[in-house]
This record gives sequence, structure tokens and C-alpha cells, in this order.
Amino acid sequence: MPGTSTKDQNPQIETLRVDLGTRGYDILIGSDLIERCGSLCWPVLPGKTVVVVSDDNVAPLYLDRVVASLEGQDLDVKTVILQAGEGTKSFANFQKLCETILAMGIERKTTLIALGGGVIGDITGYAAASLLRGIPFIQIPTTLLAQVDSSVGGKTGINTAHGKNLVGAFYQPLLVLADTEVLNTLEPRQLLAGYAEVVKYGLIDDFAFFQWLESNGKALINGDDAARRYAVHTSCAAKAKIVAEDEKETGRRALLNLGHTFGHALEAETGYGDKLFHGEAVAIGMVMAYRLSARLGLCTGQDEERLIRHMAEVGLRTDLKGLGAEDWTAEALAAHMSKDKKVTDGKIIFVLAKGIGEAFLSSVDDRDALFSVLDSFLSGSK
Ligand SMILES: NC(=O)c1ccc[n+]([C@@H]2O[C@H](COP(=O)([O-])OP(=O)(O)OC[C@H]3O[C@@H](n4cnc5c(N)ncnc54)[C@H](O)[C@@H]3O)[C@@H](O)[C@H]2O)c1
Ligand SMILES: [Zn+2]
Repeated sequence: MPGTSTKDQNPQIETLRVDLGTRGYDILIGSDLIERCGSLCWPVLPGKTVVVVSDDNVAPLYLDRVVASLEGQDLDVKTVILQAGEGTKSFANFQKLCETILAMGIERKTTLIALGGGVIGDITGYAAASLLRGIPFIQIPTTLLAQVDSSVGGKTGINTAHGKNLVGAFYQPLLVLADTEVLNTLEPRQLLAGYAEVVKYGLIDDFAFFQWLESNGKALINGDDAARRYAVHTSCAAKAKIVAEDEKETGRRALLNLGHTFGHALEAETGYGDKLFHGEAVAIGMVMAYRLSARLGLCTGQDEERLIRHMAEVGLRTDLKGLGAEDWTAEALAAHMSKDKKVTDGKIIFVLAKGIGEAFLSSVDDRDALFSVLDSFLSGSK
């Protein structure tokens, strides 16, 4: 069954299966996995050589421990450290990464290990998909966003001048190790941005999880490890189920883009940088999706209010204040949206909702409703 979970012999580790037949893999969730990554990776490794790829924020914190644990299993461990940040996901850096790894004298059984957030996971996964036409890789995600989203599901890639993530491959890892303890060193703002993606799973099809987040979200943000483990587990189970049903996003997987069509337009306007993180854009985008759904008569305005209340409680913004949006136009936002990867036959496919936990996919013919939603956010931006 997709997304089934079993307790490991060690009560601190929960195992979740992404059921993709021969490409299926386990997600292990727990505290202290970094220290034990050698023995946890060893059973799935086809060869004795591994290359750990990390960034210059994460490496000083965790790389030594990862290397020591892998060497404890008699593995030959090499490392590559990239500069932290979205700019690393470029063609130039991808080439450099591939050449660096090739210069190490790798073979088909060499395994790449991505130790970092979504940036490291995406570029390392794409390098694994491409080097020698495909070598194995393992994800050790270190941000909340990477643990609940980017490390699971096999989307890998880099950015281009034409937009984000436009070159890449579907390429599944051998294993994902989500160590919730590493979230303690994450900047609070990054943690919150990842939390938006957690809320997303409740909104898509799990009202009970949304209610759980209303009661426990604050504790999770403030460091409660049990709450973090539960939320990572529930989020990964939700993603694993959808990915198992629709690995290459020909249908249902697009539900995971709730808030993203709007969010990408906001990211494009703010320049994909520190001004607005991806998860922050998704948080606002999800509110936009609920407002549009209400304007189209699909759900009540109370759903949007409830979502805004929860986001405000944990500290996530849901408006455009302070982003310089006074100078933006609804036309420009709509133009960004129509350049999204998810456009089919020229029509934008939106994730709309009949309520919390009741999302569905649809195109929107009512342009006035869409523009009135965009205008309402823009006019409230001062
Ligand atoms: N493949 C997918 O399905 C998918 C899904 C969603 C997002 N993404 C991609 O993921 C990327 C965003 O991922 P992200 O939010 O993890 O960003 P990120 O990788 O840039 O990490 C955010 C920051 O946190 C630092 N960091 C990471 N872990 C840390 C830790 N434990 N302690 C201290 N600092 C730490 C990083 O160095 C970085 O500065 C984007 O490029 C996005 O396109 C991919
Ligand atoms: Zn996202």
C-alpha cells in the first residue's frame, strides 16, 4: 500500500514506503538519523563509494558527522561543498558539479548523497540522473521544506533564464533520511516557510490534519520534536500517496501545486530571493486560491478566514505588505501565471477548493473573478 508506515525496531525511527514498484524507496523519519546515517544507508548502497554533496551553511554543521558515520561502515567517502542559495541551481554550477564528481573517478555504483535543503537535493538529484546516464542517490534533507516536500517524489532539476526548475528529470532516490533534530539549527524564517507546505497537505485533502495543525502548529514551530516528527510523517505520507498514484504529474499530482501558481507569480515579481521565500509565497498563494474559490462560489469566505487565522497564529504573512507590490499590476501577475509549467493547451490549471481538505483541479474561465482577487491583494498591499 502506498504510504503505509511501520515502526522500526528503534522507536525513534518511523519508516514510510513510497510505493513505485522497482523504483520504490523508504523515507526514514526520526531524531538522531545523521549520527546513524552510515548504518541506515549501507543496506541500500550498491557499491562502496559515496559522494556527499552539501552547501557551505550545512557542511560546517553536519558534514563531519555524516562522513564519520559513513566511514564507520568502511565506505570510501568523498565530499563536494557548494555555495548556499538558489543561485547554485544554475547550468554553470551543474556543469561544475558534474565535472568535479567525474574527476573523482566515479563508476555506476557510486552513490551521491544530498545533504542539505531543496537546492542541494534538486541539483544533486539531477546530477545523479545525468552522470553515467544515472547513478544512485540518497537524500538527507535538512530544511523542513525539503523534508516534507522536495526530497520526496523524484523531481530534480535546475533553473534557467526562462524560469525556475525548467530543466530537470524525474529521478527517484534510493532512500530519504529526514532527521527532525537538524531543524533546530534552521533560521526561524526558513522553518516557517517550510511550514506553509505542511499546511498545504491539510488543505488538499486532510481536514483532520489541518485541525491538528491548528492545535499543534505553534508547538511545532517552537521546537516540539514529537510534533515535528508527526507533521513530517503525515506530510510525507500524503505526498508518497499522490506520487505513487501519479509519478510524472499527468493528473492528480498537480494538487500538490495548491497556492503555487499564485505563489510563483509573487516569486517572479520579488526576484526569487530573500525578499520572499518560496514557502512564504506559497502561504499567500494558498490564501489567494481560497479567495478565488470563494469568488467562484465554490467555498465560503470562512475557509479563507480560518486559513488566515492559522497562518497569523504561527507567524506566516498572508498579504503583500512591504513587498513593493504598490508597483505591481494584476496583468503582470497573470502574465507570470500563464508562463507556469502547469499550463496545458494555453490554459492555466488552478488548484481550487470546496473547503479545507477539499482541493481539486480546474481551469478558470472567469477572468473577472481572477483579476478581482489579484486586485484585492494589490490594493491591500500598502
Ligand atoms: N524537487 C521538488 O519536488 C521541489 C519541491 C519544492 C521545492 N523545491 C526546490 O527547493 C528549493 C528550496 O529549498 P529550501 O527551502 O530547502 O532552500 P535551501 O536549500 O536554499 O535552504 C535554505 C537555507 O537554509 C540553509 N540550511 C539548510 N539546512 C539547514 C540546517 N539544518 N541548519 C541551518 N541552515 C540550514 C541553507 O544553506 C540555505 O541557506 C528551491 O530551489 C525549490 O525550487 C523542489
Ligand atoms: Zn512548494
